[in-house]
Amino acid sequence: MKGFIAFEGGEGVGKSTQLTFLKKYLAETGQEAVFTREPGGTPLAEKIRQMILTNEMGAETEAALFAAARCDHIDNLILPSLRAGKIVICDRYIDSSLAYQAYARGLGEKFIYDLNSYAVQNCMPEAVVFLDMNPLESWRRQKGDVVANDRIEQEADAFHLKVYEGYQELARKNDRFLCIRTDWDKNVTSERIIDALRSRGLIR
Ligand code: TYD
Repeated sequence: MKGFIAFEGGEGVGKSTQLTFLKKYLAETGQEAVFTREPGGTPLAEKIRQMILTNEMGAETEAALFAAARCDHIDNLILPSLRAGKIVICDRYIDSSLAYQAYARGLGEKFIYDLNSYAVQNCMPEAVVFLDMNPLESWRRQKGDVVANDRIEQEADAFHLKVYEGYQELARKNDRFLCIRTDWDKNVTSERIIDALRSRGLIR
C-alpha cells in the first residue's frame, strides 16, 4: 500500500537506531510520518505483545496472537493513517511472522499467509527495509552486551540463524524487499536506507 514501509531484521541488527535516524531525517525535511511497531502499536495490540513475549505457548498459538495484534493495529492505526495521506513506518510486520513463525518455527509460509489473510490482504507494505546482518555477526559486534529480554530473544543461536535464512529466502522471492547491508558506521547504514527509499520515491 502506498506510503507503507516496514523495517525487518534479526535481533540486535540496529533497527531501533536506524528508525531513530530516519525519524530525524523525515522531521528535518518536513515529511509527516507515523512510527509504530509490531507486535503493538495500539493499546490492545500492546497487551497481546505482553502475552506473547512473557508466556510459554505453542507455535500455532504464537502465530495466531501475532496475527490478532496485527489485525487490531491495521484497523485502528495503520489504515486510518495511510488513508489520511501519512507515511507509516512500522518496526516489523508480516515478514517477521514469515521469518520467525513460518521458517524458524517451521509452520510454513502458507499457514502464515492464510492466518493473516483477512487483516493483511489490502495492507501490504510498499517496501520492506531489511537490515541484512548474520546474527552471529551482530552479537560479535555488540561484544556480548546483548541482554536477552524476552522469550523469543532467548531462543538458541540455531533458531536465530534459521530466522536469518528465512529473511534471505523472502528477500530473494519478493520485490518488496530492499536489502541494506549494515556497516560499522551507523551513519553510513542510515544513508544507504535513505538513498534506497528516496530512489524508489517512497520518501523525498
Ligand atoms: P522486540 O523487542 O520488538 O524485538 P526487536 O527489538 O528485535 O524488534 O520483540 C519482538 C519479538 O517478536 C522479536 O523477537 C521478533 C518477534 N516477532 C515474531 O516472532 N513474529 C512477528 O510476527 C513479529 C511482529 C515479531
